[in-house]
Order: sequence, then C-alpha cells, then structure tokens
Amino acid sequence: MNILVLGGAGYIGSHFVKKALEANNQIIVIDNLSTGHKKSLPQNIKFYQGDVRDEKFIDNVFKKEKIDACVHFCAFSLVGESMKDPLKYFDNNVIGAIRLVEAMAKHNIKKIVFSSTAAVYGSHDKMPITEDYSTEPTNPYGESKLFMEKIFKWSDLAYGIKYVSLRYFNVAGAASDGTIGEVHNPETHLIPIVLEVPLNKRDKLTIFGDDYKTKDGTCIRDYIHVEDLTEAHLLALDYLNKGNESNIFNLGSQTGYSNLEILNTAKKVTEKPIPVVIGDRRPGDPDMLIASNQKAKEVLRWEIKRDIKQIISTAWQFHQKHPNGYGEDEND
Ligand code: UFG
Repeated sequence: MNILVLGGAGYIGSHFVKKALEANNQIIVIDNLSTGHKKSLPQNIKFYQGDVRDEKFIDNVFKKEKIDACVHFCAFSLVGESMKDPLKYFDNNVIGAIRLVEAMAKHNIKKIVFSSTAAVYGSHDKMPITEDYSTEPTNPYGESKLFMEKIFKWSDLAYGIKYVSLRYFNVAGAASDGTIGEVHNPETHLIPIVLEVPLNKRDKLTIFGDDYKTKDGTCIRDYIHVEDLTEAHLLALDYLNKGNESNIFNLGSQTGYSNLEILNTAKKVTEKPIPVVIGDRRPGDPDMLIASNQKAKEVLRWEIKRDIKQIISTAWQFHQKHPNGYGEDEND
C-alpha cells in the first residue's frame, strides 16, 4: 500500500520506514528534521521536508501523492522538557494532529496509525496496565498525546477516519543489521545513556533514585524492541485495511526491568565495567510501568520476538558502528 509516514526520519519513524519497505509498501516521508535525521532513511526515498502544521505544505503533499493510509510519528516526546515548556508540546503535538486530520478529511484518506504513549495513564499501583485503565497524565507530554487520541476519536465520528492509537512503553534497541538506531541530542533515555559509558562518552551512569517501592529500590520499566514495535504498526494497518473499528493498544513486553537490572544486562552484553552512582530522584518518575499486551496479541496477532538482551545488544552494535550518530549536524 501507499503509506505517508509523518515524522519518518525520527528514531521510531525510520525503523518503521525500513520495515514497511521490506514488506513491499510504497513509502512517502514527511519530516521537518527538527529532531530527525535524513541519513536514517534510504537515499532514494520519496521525501518532503516540512512541518505537519503548515497547511499549504501538507495540502500540497496530499495533492501530489496517492496515499492509502497515514502513520503519524511527529511529536516532541521528552517528559522533563514538557514540564518546563508545555506550550511547545501542545503546539507541536496537538496542532499537528488537527492540521493532519483536516488534510485527511479534505483528501478523503480514512486510515491512520499513530504513536501514543504509556504517559497517558499517569500513576497506577496495579500492574500490568490494561487499555481500560483511567488516563490521568502527570505531565504535558502525556496530556498532549491524550488530546491527540481525543482528536482522532471525534474525527472518526465526524469524518469516518479510522485510527489505531499505539501506546508505547519504553522503546529501545536498533535495527538488527546495525544500519539505523537511536540518536537523540540531548540523549535522556536510560539504555543509550548506559551504553555511553563503555563507549567512553561518559565516565559513569547516574541512576536517579534507589528509594522507590520496587524490589531493588530503582524504577521499573517495560522495554520493547523498536523492531517488535514497528511490526505492530504494520499489523495495525492490516487491521484497519480489514475494515475494523478504531482501537487503542498498549505496546510493551509485559515484563518489568529495574534500572539496576538494565545496568547489569548492559555490563554482560558489552563485557565492560560500567561505574554507577545513585543520584536524586528525577521529578515525575513513577515507581513502575508495565504494560498488559494481551489485547495487541489477541486482536492484532502481535508477537514479541526480541528480549532485553537483544534490545541492548542491537543498541550496542549500532552505537559502536556510529559513535557520532549519523554525523550530519548538531542534532546528532
Ligand atoms: N534513568 C536513570 N539515569 C539516566 C536516565 C534515566 O536512572 O541517566 C532512569 C529514569 O529515571 C527512569 C528510567 O531510567 O527511572 C527510564 O527512563 P527513560 O528516560 O529511559 O524513560 P521514561 O520511562 O522516563 O520515558 C519513556 C519514554 C517517554 C514516555 C514514557 C512513558 O521515553 O516518551 O516512557 O512512561 F512518556
């Protein structure tokens, strides 16, 4: 099918593009390159540089291209930054979704898969989290994604645009062939930061707090390999192509790892010492986030093929091959 991938030059977007091309789809990418990397895409890809909020730009792409469905990855996604600059998040994430739905309605495109997040749930005591848990985001990033979900919900009723919202837990890892991986500037995520120590880019890891209500006192998260995650997007498109109703799915492994367990796995994978210190808690971090993935397994027939060792070893392989990211510009 012809898929318009918005935000296709980002970490998850570029892995989706790779997977979708391997599955013989025709791909058109839009990205404003504010955080994405052109070099994470194949050279011959159909690429439009521009912003999803720019009505004329997006209208022009929809006029020129034959599009069967959209997969929407464009968003800012740093929880900490969103606390300091909430309007940046509402502007980019929410206005972007509105402009996109307007263009889809105008050009009669009726299917979209988009990235949501575990951050829509806020804090809950009972794990694993199922999709029917209440949504009470504790930060503007999660709130902006929840707004996006609501925009798509009401747009389904009004314009018949069917959507699948995928609520990601902690995405990590890199393509198995080592060609693309996670490159953020600044990097804030645990796994790439841990690996910066054996890469000699930082001298130690700081774990943010060891007095949480967990087995070893450090936070517990649910990690999912980026390739398992992107495969779920293709299954979500199949689901919509079969004429199914709009739906929401968690994407996680249903297994929790503490920050110390991640550190210990990284030591084993890299076979290098990784010095660690315990720092203060990071504001807004919940003790534990673990997804129930039963719904995605049952309805989408999603299978998880890669475990935490493969997540860390593919990331390690990528970062060793690309110690300076994609080497393009200051975003790397
Ligand atoms: N951590 C450290 N030291 C570091 C970096 C992170 O101890 O240098 C800890 C964090 O405090 C947290 C855990 O590692 O306990 C995971 O942190 P990440 O920043 O890797 O990921 P988050 O769980 O904070 O965030 C992820 C996504 C968000 C999404 C959120 C949903 O990156 O986009 O999950 O809960 F909103």
